[in-house]
Amino acid sequence: MGIYSKPVIFAVISAAVILIGTVVTVFVPLFMPSTQPVSSYIKPYTAVELEGRDIYMREGCNNCHTQTVRPLRTEVLRYGEYSKPEEFAYDRPFLWGSRRTGPDLNRIGGKYPDSWHYSHMQSPQRLFQKSNMPPYGWLAKNRLDTSNSFRKTSVLGYGYSESDVQNQIIKYRSMVTSDTYASKESRNQVTPPELQKELTEMDAMIAYLQKLGRDVKNLEAKN
Ligand code: HEC
Repeated sequence: MGIYSKPVIFAVISAAVILIGTVVTVFVPLFMPSTQPVSSYIKPYTAVELEGRDIYMREGCNNCHTQTVRPLRTEVLRYGEYSKPEEFAYDRPFLWGSRRTGPDLNRIGGKYPDSWHYSHMQSPQRLFQKSNMPPYGWLAKNRLDTSNSFRKTSVLGYGYSESDVQNQIIKYRSMVTSDTYASKESRNQVTPPELQKELTEMDAMIAYLQKLGRDVKNLEAKN
């Protein structure tokens, strides 16, 4: 006879077996270091880049843009080196996306100067007549709220102290507001005069875009 003729016991035993299988194949790997690759060359976001990332999520940019270059010849030729798991170690949540109305942005960092981004965000249609990307010039009219920046970096475990975060914000602000900033002209074109000496949401967004793929490109340049 065996358990095949005892439906209740059979159901209980098979449920137990499936449960153990699930724990072993899903939950155990979740806590194993080998499934959470980290690399010394991938650096966490600075506080300003992280604020930009939050605005990217708030505005739903990932509804039109992916952030993952697949290991396919056509993609590598178009965007650059394909994406590796360790690149997303500091991405919570990840923004891989699933729709490419616009191009992938995982290698956008360093592709254009900041000035290009200021103009493009202000009016994508001025650069590409048929672009269906909405204009985001108004981001330059919003002062960047950094009151929670330290809390955000702590929750994500980036390991910055409160003064590290303050310094990152001050450093980025002095860079974009300085007279020697290479993209000063385009920045001033989109930023209202009263905010030109402050950090805006647009500044943070561009800091974030310039970070995407930068660590990988730096590594390639070194080798
Ligand atoms: C409705 C879809 C849509 C949304 C939403 C959208 N984009 Fe785009 N984006 C596009 C399209 C289409 C292009 C290609 C044409 C162009 O450059 O304008 C593009 C191009 C870009 C590029 C240039 C990429 C390259 O390699 O040349 C960047 C950077 C970019 N978008 C950033 C953003 C950011 C940041 C947001 C959110 C604030 C955003 N996009 C929201 C559709 C979108």
